[in-house]
Amino acid sequence: MITFNLNNTAALVTGAASGIGLATAELLASSGAKVAINDLPGNPELEKQVQRLSDLGYQVIAAPGDTGDGQDAYRMVHSAIEALGGSLNYLVNNAGTPGTKSVVHPTDFEIQNEAFWDRLLNVNLIGPQRCTAAAEKALRKSRGAIVNTTSISGLRGNGSSAVYSATKSGLITLTQETARGLGPEVRVNAIAPGLVESNWECNFELDSDMINSIPMQRVGQPEDYAEVIVYLLAGGAYITGEIVVVDGGLLTGRRA
Ligand SMILES: NC(=O)c1ccc[n+]([C@@H]2O[C@H](COP(=O)([O-])OP(=O)(O)OC[C@H]3O[C@@H](n4cnc5c(N)ncnc54)[C@H](O)[C@@H]3O)[C@@H](O)[C@H]2O)c1
Repeated sequence: MITFNLNNTAALVTGAASGIGLATAELLASSGAKVAINDLPGNPELEKQVQRLSDLGYQVIAAPGDTGDGQDAYRMVHSAIEALGGSLNYLVNNAGTPGTKSVVHPTDFEIQNEAFWDRLLNVNLIGPQRCTAAAEKALRKSRGAIVNTTSISGLRGNGSSAVYSATKSGLITLTQETARGLGPEVRVNAIAPGLVESNWECNFELDSDMINSIPMQRVGQPEDYAEVIVYLLAGGAYITGEIVVVDGGLLTGRRA
């Protein structure tokens, strides 16, 4: 596992009480960063994970807030930066939602109604924009970096729903545009995960044929993704506007 000396740096990771976000927060904190861990208000996992990481001796604070809500997202980012001591080096826009427990057919317009679009757009696409906007001043000052979590479904579709894939496609373009806007002070990149072993709300039925079709022949662990995110934040000084696919080769496919 990659590590950096991140002493005297501060980070905010959204959607970080579980999965990729939690592994990223833990890797940043174990590398010496002070980390604000965001998740939905009232999620008991948030306090539980902050306590667990504090008990390990890491500098972590809880930053509850809904990134899918305009007002709450700005409030959360501003108070997290204040609680971190007034500065921010790294922002990970990782919070996301499928909005469904099972895969939706692309033309199931009954499920993919206005309310469904509204929530997925707000959390998956506008959320990262809000947090970036709220953190812009601090990140420009520290010459920091942002990583957004998109998805391979944003590149080729076939996610939990067409709407989900569309929001993740939008986040790819937003990553590129934000990189153009924030350079040279702030680098902005994204990772595009394939399958993840996490608490993801949408249940994908995975059979052994599916797993065997992946060149790495396994589902990705949160730590597989966290390592790439931390590299893009703290290393990769000449990388910006890039979408790094982390999928064990899933999109490449496997020949028998
Ligand atoms: N699980 C997958 O198969 C998969 C594949 C590709 C991309 N992704 C992306 O990876 C990211 C992390 O997902 P994961 O697999 O670690 O899932 P996870 O469910 O384990 O973690 C996601 C966390 O985000 C939180 N969250 C959801 N909406 C939020 C909001 N509005 N504000 C703050 N927190 C919020 C959840 O409470 C949860 O703790 C997401 O952006 C997701 O779209 C996941």
